[in-house]
Amino acid sequence: MNISGKKAIIFGGTSGIGLSTVKMLFEKGASKIIAISRNPEKVSEIPDNVELVKLDVLDENGLKTFFDKQGEFDILVNSATGGARALGPFLNMDMEGYRNSFFKLWGYSNVVRYGTENLKNDGCIVLVSGSPARNCRPGYIALSSVGGAVEAFARGIAKEINPKRINVVSPGTIDTPMSPLMGEERKTFYQNATKTNLIPRAGTPEEVAQGIIFAIENDFITGTTIDVDGGWLLS
Ligand SMILES: NC(=O)c1ccc[n+]([C@@H]2O[C@H](COP(=O)([O-])OP(=O)(O)OC[C@H]3O[C@@H](n4cnc5c(N)ncnc54)[C@H](OP(=O)(O)O)[C@@H]3O)[C@@H](O)[C@H]2O)c1
Repeated sequence: MNISGKKAIIFGGTSGIGLSTVKMLFEKGASKIIAISRNPEKVSEIPDNVELVKLDVLDENGLKTFFDKQGEFDILVNSATGGARALGPFLNMDMEGYRNSFFKLWGYSNVVRYGTENLKNDGCIVLVSGSPARNCRPGYIALSSVGGAVEAFARGIAKEINPKRINVVSPGTIDTPMSPLMGEERKTFYQNATKTNLIPRAGTPEEVAQGIIFAIENDFITGTTIDVDGGWLLS
């Protein structure tokens, strides 16, 4: 797909990986970009002509209304976290926290359910999972369960929506506003979280966005997962 002149809708497009994707789509000449989140007014440094929309991926009626108004479009990305994430050992885990981690999957599946109809036949969807999906380290069981479900969902739905394409990008540890830590504490967290990786540093949101752009531009891939993880899966 040549992104120039295309219309793109990016859920979670106001921060981190989604925001980097918005910027790359703009640089590649997308003619219309809509960035969506619950609090889009918080965004900083977004290209002027990107339309900001306030919407929760868990709000099914809001999504139906939004997509009804859009007409046809070419690119649909969802990198919205959806809600809180549970970390830590499963046997000590608050089960509500575990279940709530699946808000990410419900957000992704809502957007595919209500957005695919108006996606053009040569259009493309990209979702974002995470490395624990296929190599779960201690403490990451909730993220592993949800990420695995996201990847299975995309593999399954790819057949149903063909020739429209859907792919997943799976990031390792990425330095984004998702982590509230600051200063030395932040640096130490990323050092510890990545020290056993083949590439022992946190990735950047731009590096993950490059994977998303690849999934959009390459017309020969669907139903697959692209890992952008510093070698997490091998460590
Ligand atoms: N960063 C990492 O290390 C890492 C690793 C593996 C996987 N991932 C995955 O990569 C994706 C992007 O993460 P990120 O690091 O870029 O996070 P981020 O910087 O926190 O950005 C998340 C974005 O999603 C939006 N969002 C969250 N919940 C939403 C909801 N219910 N409805 C609409 N928008 C919502 C946020 O805006 P509002 O708060 O304004 O709604 C924000 O724009 C997530 O799926 C995450 O699980 C991240």
